[in-house]
Amino acid sequence: MAVTKPGSKSTPTGRHDGGRPTSPRWTGAPEAPNVARVRDYWLGGSHHGPRDRKLAEQFTVCAPHLPYLVRTQRAFLARAVRYLVEAGIRQFLDLGSGLPTMGNVHQVAQRLDRSARVVYVDIDPVVAAESALLLDGLDNTAYLCADLTEPDAVLQAPEVRRLLDPDEPTAVFLIDVLHMVPDALQPAETISTYVNAFGPGSHVAISHICRDEGLLAAVTMFQQLFGIPVPEFTFRYPMDVVDLLAGLDIVEPGVVPIPFWRPNRAPEEDQNPENFRTCVAVARREA
Ligand SMILES: C[S@@+](CC[C@H](N)C(=O)[O-])C[C@H]1O[C@@H](n2cnc3c(N)ncnc32)[C@H](O)[C@@H]1O
Repeated sequence: MAVTKPGSKSTPTGRHDGGRPTSPRWTGAPEAPNVARVRDYWLGGSHHGPRDRKLAEQFTVCAPHLPYLVRTQRAFLARAVRYLVEAGIRQFLDLGSGLPTMGNVHQVAQRLDRSARVVYVDIDPVVAAESALLLDGLDNTAYLCADLTEPDAVLQAPEVRRLLDPDEPTAVFLIDVLHMVPDALQPAETISTYVNAFGPGSHVAISHICRDEGLLAAVTMFQQLFGIPVPEFTFRYPMDVVDLLAGLDIVEPGVVPIPFWRPNRAPEEDQNPENFRTCVAVARREA
């Protein structure tokens, strides 16, 4: 595992080759366990199997807080969608979306306004195929198998052109995916391209796993214990997340640990930021 020296901007694990991932992705094989289905399991869904549950258990041996973190991220997603619908947004582009289950974007947005349009994008063809089946018959929702780091291809895709009007403000979601996009692939420019492809008042909602020695140790332990290769990750600091949102207005309360972003309630156990090395933010393009 390659780790950048202390003080560097971000902390990649694994190998990079001109920015393109060279280590294996956790994607592609229908029979293989899958991170999107592991998340569905942790969220209490029904779209997973025994292999996914086994991988989930292997993860939690090394990082016991992961299921709680995933549930907390999904709760943030719901709060962010509600905030954006109340701000007048009716178009959503969810990049690196995983499975559209268990309170995902279209489920929350369309409960608030049935006319809301949602396009999910994931690079994993297995996830995309399962998701397309799940969304079959929903007029205002589509799933696209594509690489979010290629915004021109995503924005020109028929699913996006059919459902998302480029003149309307749109919310771009990047929940727990940017650690898979190394700095060499210019994630800040990518975010800017997406937000500028739509009307004034467009937003981005982001959840980013932050640099955490405990998590780095957990990744090493996972590889050593189970011999399963891990794709490269780039764990960023909260200040790096601020940089990713350059040129946008970060809405209150800023870049914060997950439970601090506009909580519906404030249970005491969620108020300890030591448990949340993942930060979230919503930012707006003014003009
Ligand atoms: C950790 S999961 C997060 C899923 C979802 N956002 C959520 O909140 O549950 C990351 C997802 O991003 C996808 N992914 C990774 N790199 C991607 C890329 N370059 N473009 C599109 N999707 C990507 C993976 O296939 C996976 O389903």
